[in-house]
Amino acid sequence: MKVLVNNELQEREEVRVDIEDRGYQFGDGVYEVIRVYEGVPYTLDEHLARFYRSSQEIGITPNMNIEELKLKLLSLIEENELQDGGIYVQLSRGVAPRKHQYDVHIKPQLIAYPVPSKRPVKEQNEGVEAITADDLRWLRCDIKSLNLLYNIMIKQKAQEAGAFEGILVRDGNVTEGTSSNIFIIKDGTIYTHPAGNLILNGITRTKLLELFTSKGWAFKELAFSKETLLQADEVFMSSTTAEVVSITSIDGNPVGNGAPGTFTSDIREAFQESIE
Ligand code: PDD
Repeated sequence: MKVLVNNELQEREEVRVDIEDRGYQFGDGVYEVIRVYEGVPYTLDEHLARFYRSSQEIGITPNMNIEELKLKLLSLIEENELQDGGIYVQLSRGVAPRKHQYDVHIKPQLIAYPVPSKRPVKEQNEGVEAITADDLRWLRCDIKSLNLLYNIMIKQKAQEAGAFEGILVRDGNVTEGTSSNIFIIKDGTIYTHPAGNLILNGITRTKLLELFTSKGWAFKELAFSKETLLQADEVFMSSTTAEVVSITSIDGNPVGNGAPGTFTSDIREAFQESIE
């Protein structure tokens, strides 16, 4: 496998990460996961815009501009002959002797490489279970930061409970999933938490909102409570890797009649058509 390390492609076995890389020690960096369908990256420009925004928000200046990185990622896909999968891109603040504060001149370290990603067909067809958990993350969830400790704690808890996703609840309201955005449908209207500092504004989420507008489907970017979630007609999650997946049970209680909802299936099909 070929890996992009700053400006050059290297064989995976040859890549060396310094023990004092701040990404490794502090989670001091940002990342993106981009889906590749039939060799073509999906919504690459949107992912790169978010990547540069995240880096800017934490004061890291990438060592190349968006256009240069775009060309490098396209050649990474080509060199790896990647057809169906994902690309993981990470930027850390760089390498420096370990101390919390940093010198603004240290050189950021960029890596990008292919990661396996297949449409989760079974989950999409059958729906998945979810659990709820308090959202105890920091208040800058809009930054796609490497610090995923709380997200992974809850994802692991979900998995150990036999569930696929953990739905986070802050001050009584549903924010998002540990690695997805959450939507509910009630009386024909779709609801999702508004963008802002409490959620990551998903690229899939944004594409879905555009799709709802073009289809004339009623939606509101409005926070809703955990009680409303549990009384919803349909619930689904969205992300780059999951696309649109129905949530059919929450904390052991069925959503609606416990089967994937028909509106959600229409949404998933419309989303998949928009990719092709
Ligand atoms: N996760 N919210 C969180 C906390 C996420 O980590 C993700 C994505 C999303 C959905 O964003 P998008 O539609 O842009 O993928 C929402 C990625 C896939 C991950 O960490 O693997």
